[in-house]
Amino acid sequence: MRHLIDPLDLSVVEIDRLLDLADKIAENPKDYSQVCSGKKLATLFYEPSTRTRLSFEAAMLNMGGSVLGFSSADSSSAAKGESVADTIRAVSCYADICAIRHPKEGAPLRASNYSKIPVINAGDGGHQHPTQTLTDLMTIRAKKHRLNHLTIGLCGDLKFGRTVHSLIKALSRYENIRFVLISPEELRVPDYIIDNVLKAQNIPYEEVENIEDVISQLDILYMTRVQKERFFNEEDYIRLKDSYILTTAKMKNAKPDMAVLHPLPRVNEIALEVDDDPRTAYFDQVQNGVYVRMALMMTLLEVEHA
Ligand code: NCD
Repeated sequence: MRHLIDPLDLSVVEIDRLLDLADKIAENPKDYSQVCSGKKLATLFYEPSTRTRLSFEAAMLNMGGSVLGFSSADSSSAAKGESVADTIRAVSCYADICAIRHPKEGAPLRASNYSKIPVINAGDGGHQHPTQTLTDLMTIRAKKHRLNHLTIGLCGDLKFGRTVHSLIKALSRYENIRFVLISPEELRVPDYIIDNVLKAQNIPYEEVENIEDVISQLDILYMTRVQKERFFNEEDYIRLKDSYILTTAKMKNAKPDMAVLHPLPRVNEIALEVDDDPRTAYFDQVQNGVYVRMALMMTLLEVEHA
């Protein structure tokens, strides 16, 4: 039985296969409308979510399966003090596959150790978010027709942004990737990613504070929200929250084929005027997230399809 806890749980070959399947689903979604008939997805969300939970549910419903679950810790037995281990033991009796989002780093991994069904990490604290990464990779591939030979700018809260951590891990396995890490000093990429991923594999990267200085070099600009809920004090959040605001004026210096991604939700970091720029891809990401989660659940459930 396979789980998806960390983006590196899938090999590069498996990711390529999964993205090919997601592309095929996107071309003809109706062909897949019954592939998970009789299957049940449980969504265990201990933290707020719009896209991740609804796209998982839409993905399962699109394949003829059904869904059950909870969307806040308060409405589950976690509020009574139940452990994730006991919850997953119960959920294993009700569903065929589950997606877990939890504020504690490592909770989905712990769940997977007690689970009888595939567990998908739908975001664990400030740690990892592998299915957002699959969405991001599908979108980058659609826009740039490749996942190698890219200069990727990651901008915003690189400390707490789990989508950033997972994307760096996943992209670091492709050839000739260079990262430009754009953040305030306090919100830099954690040392464990710098040391164990970037330095360990000799992947070129630079850390800068100013987006204007580097925007012209980028093939991809990945904007992120400052993660309010992970700050220890409100003053720091207020001071840092508007560190970056992407505007059409700043976009003028970017390459004509740069793609702008954002996992969403957006707060202030991309001005609404930028939405009309054909280089933006954040609403494509939302759509791709459904297809890639269909492909992922088919893969983990070992569903056959011609
Ligand atoms: C992200 C998350 O939850 O980490 N959202 C998402 O899943 N698309 C990004 C964020 O909350 O800023």
